[in-house]
Amino acid sequence: MKTTILITGTSRGIGKALAVHFLSQGATVIGSSRKTQSELAHYPNFFSLKLDLSNPESRVNAALRVKENFDSIDMLINNAGIGPDIDHCSPSESHLENTLSVNLMGTILFTEELIDHITLRGKIINISSKMGSITFCEKSDSVAYRVSKTALNMYTQILSVRVKKGLAIAAVHPGWVKTSFAPSNINGRLTATEAAQKIYDFVRSSFKSGIFWDVETNQEIPW
Ligand SMILES: NC(=O)c1ccc[n+]([C@@H]2O[C@H](COP(=O)([O-])OP(=O)(O)OC[C@H]3O[C@@H](n4cnc5c(N)ncnc54)[C@H](OP(=O)(O)O)[C@@H]3O)[C@@H](O)[C@H]2O)c1
Repeated sequence: MKTTILITGTSRGIGKALAVHFLSQGATVIGSSRKTQSELAHYPNFFSLKLDLSNPESRVNAALRVKENFDSIDMLINNAGIGPDIDHCSPSESHLENTLSVNLMGTILFTEELIDHITLRGKIINISSKMGSITFCEKSDSVAYRVSKTALNMYTQILSVRVKKGLAIAAVHPGWVKTSFAPSNINGRLTATEAAQKIYDFVRSSFKSGIFWDVETNQEIPW
């Protein structure tokens, strides 16, 4: 597969499993972390990128490094995210600040740095969450996290309106996945490898741009 994919947050969890899946299919993967990533370094087609989404200088430097090393990228998968207030009842200032700076501002501004570097028929996938669906909201917990994903969904829709032809944009719910994301994820229904396979199948399909898709149940989610 002669494709170059940038995945944010490949040091663990879903992003790492997704990187491994794309790498094993022969794609070139640019994978980001705030740390040095030694576990994927043995793949000759893996390019390690230092990126802290909450830090403006880091975002600009990371985007520059991508542009210096790759003529273009075929897909941007905005996977990196945090959920420090998952299952907390009321929001704190620090949870709101941190969550919004990574899941929302950082993700938007990093995408804006790179959008002109994505090939004409390329794709942008925002790893969102069903917890960001306004229609499905029946609980009052995880305020910062839910709000960050709802707003990320809006950005997904804005992008799909802005680019109209060419790029395909989607928000994806990966399912409830066993990762170290939050303490409750220990009970997740899917392994990271299973979720990665489902995300892979979706992103390789010719999905309708501007869609919010649940890869666990294979159906569209109402915003
Ligand atoms: N697990 C689930 O059940 C579930 C359900 C719905 C949606 N999601 C979404 O799926 C995505 C991945 O979740 P996961 O469960 O795989 O989480 P995870 O295992 O905690 O991995 C999160 C990734 O995000 C990166 N990251 C954290 N802070 C960052 C920052 N400031 N700048 C850049 N990267 C940062 C981490 O890299 P470093 O710490 O190495 O920088 C790590 O690679 C998230 O967007 C999450 O909201 C997960």
